[in-house]
Amino acid sequence: MNRPNPMQAQILDGNAVATEIKAEVAAQVSELRSQGLRPGLAVVLAGTHAASEIYVRNKVRSSEQLGIYSEKLTPPPSITTAGLLEVIAELNSRNDIDGILVQLPLPPQVDSKEVLMAVSPQKDVDGFHPVNIGLLSMQRPGLTPCTPTGIMELLQRSGVEIAGQNAVVAGRSDIVGKPMAMLLLNANATVTVCHSKTRDLAAVCREADLLVAAVGRAGMITREFVKPGATVIDVGISRVTTRQDLERFFPGNEKRAREFAERGATLIGDVHPNVAEVAGAITPVPGGVGPLTIAMLMANTVKACRMRRGRRTP
Ligand code: GUN
Repeated sequence: MNRPNPMQAQILDGNAVATEIKAEVAAQVSELRSQGLRPGLAVVLAGTHAASEIYVRNKVRSSEQLGIYSEKLTPPPSITTAGLLEVIAELNSRNDIDGILVQLPLPPQVDSKEVLMAVSPQKDVDGFHPVNIGLLSMQRPGLTPCTPTGIMELLQRSGVEIAGQNAVVAGRSDIVGKPMAMLLLNANATVTVCHSKTRDLAAVCREADLLVAAVGRAGMITREFVKPGATVIDVGISRVTTRQDLERFFPGNEKRAREFAERGATLIGDVHPNVAEVAGAITPVPGGVGPLTIAMLMANTVKACRMRRGRRTP
């Protein structure tokens, strides 16, 4: 690997790996289409979360680029649990839809878990259904959550060793932390899961050869949390909107200062920029984990299509 500055970690380029995965998915889509099959993805956006709209737009755009049929459904934010269950039932019954993604968070009156459990496990491209969670824990073929699966792809394609390594996952969400821990365990890492009640979080994280930061707090994982040479994966994404935070996180960084001046904000992950001085390899924000999530959603849609329509998986 190219490491021009030995004091700076190798950058794990999520954009490059996502582009590679999407090219592979596009090839699989054209093969399926030549057999008269077109994978189809339905994205349900019921909330009014500003970031969700951007995520959904990106998911629909990526589908189009790869030749996947996609449909965006936007029930009103006042929709009830029962109303949303009807939407899901209809999508479950359609043969042209292989993947169903319910964008989270849902409006507060909706019982999110009930809605996620109503998605047919065969069409559950988010991998959130209890059946898929069970299959993952049993190491049986199924659909696995996009963000942690994308991280596994990034690690494997970048040549990062996993088997036998001490992996620490900071964060225990259903979407990232828990499935991440299970995927790493299945890949023979020795896995520790930390959370807000963990005693001396920094000391536990410092044991990690591979640290996955998914705590949802801007810049919380500082260099004191990282063993020299460790691989650090940053799942967080927050906006830095005050000059004080800009100076705290990015002192003397002209590129970030310019971006802040132009747009009034810059992005930061859960990992403090000073970690790059001790880590062996690190994912950037933006351009690290984010693009991989979408690439894996596309891959899961094609996988769901193959599994449901009885096609061989490559
Ligand atoms: N909201 C934030 N991340 C995700 C995700 O991975 N899937 C869904 N459906 N909603 C999200």
